[in-house]
Amino acid sequence: MKHYPVMLPEVLSSLSMADGETCVDGTFGNGGYSEAILNSAACSVIGLDRDPNVQPRADELATAYGDSFRLINTPFSKMDKVGIDRVDGVVLDIGVSSMQLDQAERGFSFMREGPLDMRMEQGGGPTARDAVMALSVSELTRIFQVYGEEKRARHVANCIVSAREDSDIVTTADLAGIVERALGRRGKTHPATRVFQALRIFVNDELGELYLGLCAAERILAPGGRLVVVTFHSLEDRIVKSFFRRRAGEVAGGSRYAPEVENNGPAASFTLPKRSVTKPSKTEVEENARSRSAKLRVAVRTEADVFEADDRLLPNVISLSELEARL
Ligand SMILES: C[S@@+](CC[C@H](N)C(=O)[O-])C[C@H]1O[C@@H](n2cnc3c(N)ncnc32)[C@H](O)[C@@H]1O
Repeated sequence: MKHYPVMLPEVLSSLSMADGETCVDGTFGNGGYSEAILNSAACSVIGLDRDPNVQPRADELATAYGDSFRLINTPFSKMDKVGIDRVDGVVLDIGVSSMQLDQAERGFSFMREGPLDMRMEQGGGPTARDAVMALSVSELTRIFQVYGEEKRARHVANCIVSAREDSDIVTTADLAGIVERALGRRGKTHPATRVFQALRIFVNDELGELYLGLCAAERILAPGGRLVVVTFHSLEDRIVKSFFRRRAGEVAGGSRYAPEVENNGPAASFTLPKRSVTKPSKTEVEENARSRSAKLRVAVRTEADVFEADDRLLPNVISLSELEARL
């Protein structure tokens, strides 16, 4: 599968790196953004990835760009705890890479038979198999509904729980078969797409990571530093949008119960450029279907202190640690 870095021209212009500046590429992946950033100015890039498999690609960039590039194997939620400070740009491109999808043994893809794993870190923590084998019908239903936006979530969860009574669900093909039998085949999209996406988001705590990653970026960005985030899921975009609006001094999500009020809180730690959200061009969507749901948001760090508020707006779904405690 060819890898296209999503919205690359828009990412580069939002970051607008200058000579001598430093950028953190929090989701190194195939190195598409890192390489293009290094070519855009005489700047440095620190790549981060929680998946150790990206090392050979990182070694290629280190050979080509010398001291201007290095990789740290860490989740981006910890970018402020690995000795990085006062950087001029942070970019996050949320989700899995084509490399991860292509490797059958990682268990991300319903199109390739492999163990039902899906852990980006490849170690520690529950796997997708643990989730489908141990969670209750209602817990699986919530995961499929919320993270996968699967309309027939309860039906799929019921079918999984009755299938596992007959035999263990071990491989991607086992699960894809159960979901396909539950939902039937309609349209172009494989019926297991949403269930696989939901389990991947759950197993990697992707929404928690995203929120903590934004907070960590707020701590390490120098005044004037740009934070650029590309998301693919409405829940992810909502987290980024609400984080940006709150830190820019706007209050997001007023409702009957919590009406929008004038913000008398701390000084804004970010400003939002006029056009703070961008979508991919029609041509890009035609060339790379994966980009169709992408949204890019950018915010610029001010001199103000970081917000200490815990305003993560995470949906009410069983947490990974609750599952871990049960195993
Ligand atoms: C969509 S790919 C990034 C592709 C990259 N922008 C490029 O141009 O090649 C996402 C990568 O981010 C990594 N990743 C996802 N969540 C992460 C996290 N919380 N911390 C660190 N890396 C993460 C994945 O392991 C994967 O390699």
